[in-house]
Amino acid sequence: MNNNFINEYFGIGILNGKTPENLGVLWRSAQNMGASFIFTIGNRYAKQACDTHNAVKSMPYFHYETFQEFFNNLPKGARIVGVELDDKAKDLEPFHHPRRCVYLLGAEDHGLTNEAIEKSHFLVKFKSELSLNVAVAGSIIMYDRQLSKPRS
Ligand SMILES: C[S@@+](CC[C@H](N)C(=O)[O-])C[C@H]1O[C@@H](n2cnc3c(N)ncnc32)[C@H](O)[C@@H]1O
Repeated sequence: MNNNFINEYFGIGILNGKTPENLGVLWRSAQNMGASFIFTIGNRYAKQACDTHNAVKSMPYFHYETFQEFFNNLPKGARIVGVELDDKAKDLEPFHHPRRCVYLLGAEDHGLTNEAIEKSHFLVKFKSELSLNVAVAGSIIMYDRQLSKPRS
């Protein structure tokens, strides 16, 4: 058995996501890259053709009306990793992903809110000229988590 995968999990979701297609693409990546659950805050998910693997029926999907509701219902001991192209964010490459965490992505138009940035335990970014599509960004984060790097 690979001990690296004991006592760890992650979830991934979007705050105020605007485009259902992006959610479908993100869920498909999440299902195939080891996520334990997916979530939305603000806008709900409606099934999309791009969720061809039916990810939303294959793993727990949680919905929260507000950031505060999400924050109050975090799995015990899980850290929030905010993902945002922000001056305060740390580079992804040397980042040690927490064993148990949720990755929080921002809206297509406005990104993460100030409240979400302030309450995230970690904030990470990766290099790009301008911000990438949110589902692509989430997939890059999950790919990086799969690399052989120490956990925090
Ligand atoms: C289209 S972007 C948000 C646009 C942003 N408000 C802007 O105008 O710059 C959607 C989300 O993708 C993620 N994202 C995109 N590019 C990123 C990067 N280089 N580093 C970290 N997150 C990124 C963030 O979660 C962001 O909130």
